Amino acid sequence: MDYLHDWANLLLRWGHLIVGVAWIGASFYFNWLENHLERQKTSLNEGVAGELWAIHGGGFYHLQKYELAPPSLPEPLHWFKWEAYTTFLTGFALLWVVYYLNAGTMLLPPGSAMAPWQGVLLGLGVVFGAWFVYDALCRSALSRHPTWLALSGFLLLVALTWGLMQVFSGRAAYIHVGAAIGTCMVANVFRVIIPGQKALVRAMQTGAERDPAHGRHALLRSRHNNYLTLPVLFLMISSHYPMTYASEWGWLVLAGLMVFSVLVRHYFNIRHLAGRKVWVLPAAGLILVTLMAAMAPGSAPSREATDGEVDAIAFSEVSAIVEERCAGCHAAVPSFGGFAAAPAGVRLDSGEQIRRHLKAIQRVAVTTRYMPLGNVTGMTDVERATVGAFIEHTAP
Ligand code: HEC
Repeated sequence: MDYLHDWANLLLRWGHLIVGVAWIGASFYFNWLENHLERQKTSLNEGVAGELWAIHGGGFYHLQKYELAPPSLPEPLHWFKWEAYTTFLTGFALLWVVYYLNAGTMLLPPGSAMAPWQGVLLGLGVVFGAWFVYDALCRSALSRHPTWLALSGFLLLVALTWGLMQVFSGRAAYIHVGAAIGTCMVANVFRVIIPGQKALVRAMQTGAERDPAHGRHALLRSRHNNYLTLPVLFLMISSHYPMTYASEWGWLVLAGLMVFSVLVRHYFNIRHLAGRKVWVLPAAGLILVTLMAAMAPGSAPSREATDGEVDAIAFSEVSAIVEERCAGCHAAVPSFGGFAAAPAGVRLDSGEQIRRHLKAIQRVAVTTRYMPLGNVTGMTDVERATVGAFIEHTAP
């Protein structure tokens, strides 16, 4: 069972990555096209808004964008939507496999007052509820003030992160913020952008008036999707970086990284424009550096501070702690339910393996404390201090 679970995890993650790359690749490409169209040429055909030449894969490409629409509906006309839909479907399935099937360890923090099923319900509520809140905001009077709209959305996201960090494990909180944003982005495609394009095509076929509202809504939503891409991509890889979500300030770290990545995206959006703002990239850099400085680890708890003892610590003492607290999962054949092989390929079930991994043990169990996962094995502060002191003073 655990073995099949690992395969489901692998195949879904791999698939999610592939279709996600296809979706974001296409959207980056169309953004790039839009930004690089030559609109001033005198040789443009009637009704053409701009064109450009490109070379790729050994051939020349000539693309044209129409002001409104071509005189008749071209056949075949390519649509871009399944990339987005399949990204949602694979991502949602992966959320189940990784977080909901193992909700006790992966979703909830140790000692949580919530039952696993309650955590799952809350997670689902957040992922889908986010869309209704966001959609309502976009349809409200606020939509006439895009900057205020974006600011409200950002503040809501920060509040959501903070709230989730109070009830979920740090990495589960982050992934749920990512899943909530991702769901809004896909729903933008499914509920607003594609319906708008369908209405456009229908209007062409029937010769009816075009409703300009469709275009306006679609533009607002695709702009949101554009700026949300980079934050969401970070959130999808965030579980590899416990330093971001493991502290109580994780919500603020995420807020900083979101602003940073939105500014970077903005830079790429406006880079080619005349009179562009020069402060965008330096501002992003400043935010990043400030964040790095603010997050720098303080000193790890020392053994002296916890129990007043300074004697040399024997390796046997450390290996006993690690075997008790870590080897249930980190063994060739984990005894802890839900794992078919040593997680992340890290085995800690013998003195030799433990010696090999001392640096990593220090990082995850002493500095960031994100292992044992959800502290399910109940590692104490004194044990962490002992391991830390050994690695710092005795081991080298
Ligand atoms: C409940 C099972 C479980 C326990 C107990 C556990 N781990 Fe892990 N560990 C995992 C999982 C799952 C991953 C992979 C998750 C990831 O990539 O973030 C992992 C990943 C790791 C990694 C590699 C990731 C990295 O950031 O380098 C190290 C090192 C590690 N654990 C060390 C430890 C130590 C040390 C302990 C004991 C103090 C411990 N683990 C206890 C489940 C566990």
